[in-house]
Amino acid sequence: MKITAATAGPGMPGPLQGSVSSGTRSSQPVLAVQGLHKAFAGVKAVQGLSLEVHAGEMLALIGPNGAGKSTSFNCINGQLKPDSGSVCLGGQDVTGRAPRALWRAGVARTFQVASIWSSFTVIGNLQMALLVRAGQTLRPFGRAIAAQRDAAMALLDAVGLQTLAEEPASTLAYGDIKRLELAVALANQPRLLLMDEPTAGMAPAERGAMMALVRDLARSRTMGVLFTEHSMDVVFGHADRIVVMAQGQVIAQGTPDEVRDDPAARAAYLGESMSIDTP
Ligand SMILES: Nc1ncnc2c1ncn2[C@@H]1O[C@H](COP(=O)(O)OP(=O)(O)O)[C@@H](O)[C@H]1O
Ligand SMILES: [Mg+2]
Repeated sequence: MKITAATAGPGMPGPLQGSVSSGTRSSQPVLAVQGLHKAFAGVKAVQGLSLEVHAGEMLALIGPNGAGKSTSFNCINGQLKPDSGSVCLGGQDVTGRAPRALWRAGVARTFQVASIWSSFTVIGNLQMALLVRAGQTLRPFGRAIAAQRDAAMALLDAVGLQTLAEEPASTLAYGDIKRLELAVALANQPRLLLMDEPTAGMAPAERGAMMALVRDLARSRTMGVLFTEHSMDVVFGHADRIVVMAQGQVIAQGTPDEVRDDPAARAAYLGESMSIDTP
């Protein structure tokens, strides 16, 4: 079966993150990046990126190929160490920390190419993720995994996959794999979710449903979401704010309306087969 927005359901009414307060713009940002620089053998991939993501907010990082989006992302999630600049989570400086430490600090990530365990059932993937999060021993395996069943089902419910719980993950349609990957990320109870092209490879209708779901989850779990995306429909339809990069620098930022009207943002896309007009 295909999951649609109609079956996706609202976000899980689970406990909110204690360290994230009201979600208002005056509160401490979930993520604050200041003056980030990263070069590769003379290629200045990122040159002074600064941005903030607030609780409950969807921030899109866009720009032409080679703009420095992935490098920025990887500096934020710990896969790369920036040459200079800082990355703070809820006011705590985590610059240069390893991905594992950031994950422990409440950063979750989904990948452009989905990474799930295809030999497990759908719910089994989540039970494993919850076990890892809880730091529980896998022995005895059956009992440990059963203990996570209710929490796993609640997460499946949150992403609209509850009816597919017992299916082998290998049989899922592509859009459902992306939903499962999202549920696995939520198992970490993230206060910041990083999504690298979350709708890559999805049909247009599926993209909208996926991003509406992410937006619901961002709001209900007061989770900040930073995402890169090529589909301008997705970006302009679902981001609260947009940061536009070109050649390693921020060339425009603001609400979708502000960025749509920004001459520098428009110019950055000339020569690319993208339109930033609303349909
Ligand atoms: N590991 C790397 N080694 C050398 N150059 C890189 C590496 N990663 C990215 N670059 C270069 O840095 C620039 C920014 O790349 P990237 O961050 O991947 O951009 P985007 O994700 O916006 O397409 C490009 O010129 C790219 O060729
Ligand atoms: Mg990239």
